[in-house]
Amino acid sequence: MKITVVGAGNVGATCADVLAYKEIANEIVLVDIREGFAEGKALDIWQSAPIDRFNSRTIGVTNNYVQTANSNVVVITSGLPRKPGMSRDDLIETNAVIVKSVTEQIIQYSPCAIIIVVSNPLDVMTYQAYITSHFPRTRVMGMAGILDTGRYKAFIADELNVSPKDISALLLGGHGDTMVPLPRYTTVSGIPITELLPRERIDAITERTRFGGGELVKLMGTSAWYAPGSAAARMAEAITRNHKRVFPCCVKLEGEYGLENVFVGVPVVLGKNGIERIIQLNLTDEENEQLRQSANAVKEMMEVLDKLEEKNR
Ligand SMILES: NC(=O)c1ccc[n+]([C@@H]2O[C@H](COP(=O)([O-])OP(=O)(O)OC[C@H]3O[C@@H](n4cnc5c(N)ncnc54)[C@H](O)[C@@H]3O)[C@@H](O)[C@H]2O)c1
Repeated sequence: MKITVVGAGNVGATCADVLAYKEIANEIVLVDIREGFAEGKALDIWQSAPIDRFNSRTIGVTNNYVQTANSNVVVITSGLPRKPGMSRDDLIETNAVIVKSVTEQIIQYSPCAIIIVVSNPLDVMTYQAYITSHFPRTRVMGMAGILDTGRYKAFIADELNVSPKDISALLLGGHGDTMVPLPRYTTVSGIPITELLPRERIDAITERTRFGGGELVKLMGTSAWYAPGSAAARMAEAITRNHKRVFPCCVKLEGEYGLENVFVGVPVVLGKNGIERIIQLNLTDEENEQLRQSANAVKEMMEVLDKLEEKNR
């Protein structure tokens, strides 16, 4: 198995590191446009192989896709991260150009790859990779839901002073402030969260999750990377090892949840073919309304991207 990670910055290098030490692929190629940067990061990861005892060969290249040929999975992390005061949507113009050019080069050398997009604004960049690659929707997806549920679960673990391992949860919608956490589907070892926490505490955790990315940007001056890098690696693992994991992922909806032609997060089964199934839930009226609002927010940004595409044509 071969995995390419484009962007050797904070998220990309973390993702490559997790892929390597967990031996998720035997070959990992890191690509960046900064001269020598990906080579350096890859060499550093490779030098941890004898220490952490893994075999995955990690190599780095500067803006050269020949070495990425025949990758099974490609993770796109290239693009600007947020700075304090910015929304993810503020990144659209710059990152659309980057994601488009990266996708064009990737598909030239790996026409059968499965693409996992991480660059922000996530749902719209997934759309960009989809329209550029002309791949089926099963092979182009975005990483956000695993990260957002990770944040949600971590806050619940803190609140209840229990292991984060025992928390199971689900979020729907776009990767932004309109995401839809589902307390109804949140359990601690099978115990519904609603039996363990009062409504106002659940609401407070939900709110903190919605702005969880912004909280880190404020603290660090840039966006997160450990949890995002690991989350993308987990998706790649489910695909390369055909695990059939059920994860919330950003995918193009074609009628599911009553939504058409919009990229939002919903639970899917991930396996060797990419998105193998979209799981449809029976939502309450309130949850449905929240999902619709979230999808509308993404649709607005997809239209901005359509206009940019037209302008640059
Ligand atoms: N989906 C999520 O949940 C999530 C979470 C965190 C970050 N992000 C996004 O991921 C992206 C990367 O974040 P980061 O913190 O790693 O940023 P970073 O600045 O540390 O790294 C980005 C890297 O991309 C490289 N790059 C830029 N243009 C390129 C191109 N054309 N080809 C190859 N490489 C190129 C840069 O040189 C840089 O090394 C950002 O857009 C950020 O907003 C998404």
